[in-house]
Amino acid sequence: MVKRSVFYRIVLFSFILGICCSPSIAVAQASKTSDDVKTTLHDGLMKARQNEAFDPAAVTAFTRLQKEYGTPLYIYDREIIDEQANAIKEAFGSLFPKLHLFYAVKANTSLAVISQLRGHGLGTEVISGGEIITVRKLGVPGNDIMFTSSSKSPWEIELALKEGILLNVDSVDELNHIEVMAGRLHKIARISFRINPGVDPHTIHQINTGITESKFGIHLADGIAFSAYKWALKLSHVKIVGLHCHIGSQITEPEGYRLAAGKMLAFAADLKEKLGIQLEFIDLGGGIGIPYQDDQTVMTPGELAQVLRPIWQDGVKRMGYEPTLWLEPGRFFVAPAGFLLTRVNSVKTTPVKTFVNVDAGFNTLIRPAMYQAYHRVRIVGRKDRVMKLDIAGDVCETGDILAADRILPRPVAGDLVVILDAGAYGFSMASEYNARPLPAEVMVSRNQATLIRKRGQMEDIFRNQVTEIDKSRRDHIRSH
Ligand code: LLP
Repeated sequence: MVKRSVFYRIVLFSFILGICCSPSIAVAQASKTSDDVKTTLHDGLMKARQNEAFDPAAVTAFTRLQKEYGTPLYIYDREIIDEQANAIKEAFGSLFPKLHLFYAVKANTSLAVISQLRGHGLGTEVISGGEIITVRKLGVPGNDIMFTSSSKSPWEIELALKEGILLNVDSVDELNHIEVMAGRLHKIARISFRINPGVDPHTIHQINTGITESKFGIHLADGIAFSAYKWALKLSHVKIVGLHCHIGSQITEPEGYRLAAGKMLAFAADLKEKLGIQLEFIDLGGGIGIPYQDDQTVMTPGELAQVLRPIWQDGVKRMGYEPTLWLEPGRFFVAPAGFLLTRVNSVKTTPVKTFVNVDAGFNTLIRPAMYQAYHRVRIVGRKDRVMKLDIAGDVCETGDILAADRILPRPVAGDLVVILDAGAYGFSMASEYNARPLPAEVMVSRNQATLIRKRGQMEDIFRNQVTEIDKSRRDHIRSH
């Protein structure tokens, strides 16, 4: 009798364990249903965006991607990139006949992503020699590359000049270095100045670049920017072609743009009237924000275009000519297209919180730790046992929480967790901290997934290290 009850208890325990610890049960059943209705990977990703990651389409998609590519994994949806690009093209294209759009590649520097956006006719905005080489590798011509950086090294200036790239100048000191280098190379540098208009777009402090105390740009105030243009006119290896500002990132309301555009156009009118400078373009930067939360409403590109249109028209009248409007968003094109897929390693309830420990961390996606940024989280294939959870990363630091205090279905080890809107400043800011190789990236188009970057390997962690063993070998060779 005693033996039998022990036996039943073991059977019951194994059964409970089976339900709680094996997501494969839910996954397998869901996949079957989904296969019947033939959903695509894209459908699955969209279900996650619609807060229906429990749906069989989502379960099938993410399970398939995990099986083929492992976790942590960055997934980009090509259709979403296209939709985002079309949204900006349509919003501005109809109101600004003289328009050229650029993609700020720092948001996502992966070749497949850049080339997808190039397919929309976008130029590229770059901030380092490395990004110049990246876009040149894709065949982007120099005249469709804008190089903005507040700290350009001599080799970067030289590269930009040799490739015929537009230099967006951040200080008069830098301009003088450009003049000398251009003279040495017998080139004429095409330049614009990055202006600091002293406008607060009310965004996260670390990415607010238009305020007076920011390190970026030449201040408009006190005639500083005016003097810079006046000085540039005197130089023999410099040709002024434009005027630029970028007031910040993740801007969710048009007011900052309205103020900055007003100041920029008034300044352009001054340049024409007082110095006779006629610009090829005025670049109002990037920074167009996206909703990171389910119920968040932010300005649309259409609303922004409507706000800017009368200011632009008014400015054009005052200038007496129409330059081309340039814009250079990064995040808007790619953030919503990106999904970070990660696997639950364990779940722990402490006296204070429940932590879901996943196999991604701030080495994979730094935004939550660095800016306290909010990213929506979905638990794949689960709907019930909803409770307050923290999604904790695998980096050995207290600050490595990917999402705090979220009301979500409680997952179990082996479950999949998806972090939304991870396409911008996700992989491009990832690191190998804690000796963890970089994640893989895949591009999804309908039901097809293409690996666009292989998962990092342990050899990558050692690739440039010079060990004592190597040194002694070298010394040994030298002494012979
Ligand atoms: N142009 C310039 C000169 C920039 O500095 C930036 C971004 C952009 C364009 C593109 O801004 P977007 O459209 O992507 O907002 N890591 C931060 C964002 C840093 C933005 C740096 N500059 C984040 O994860 O929020």
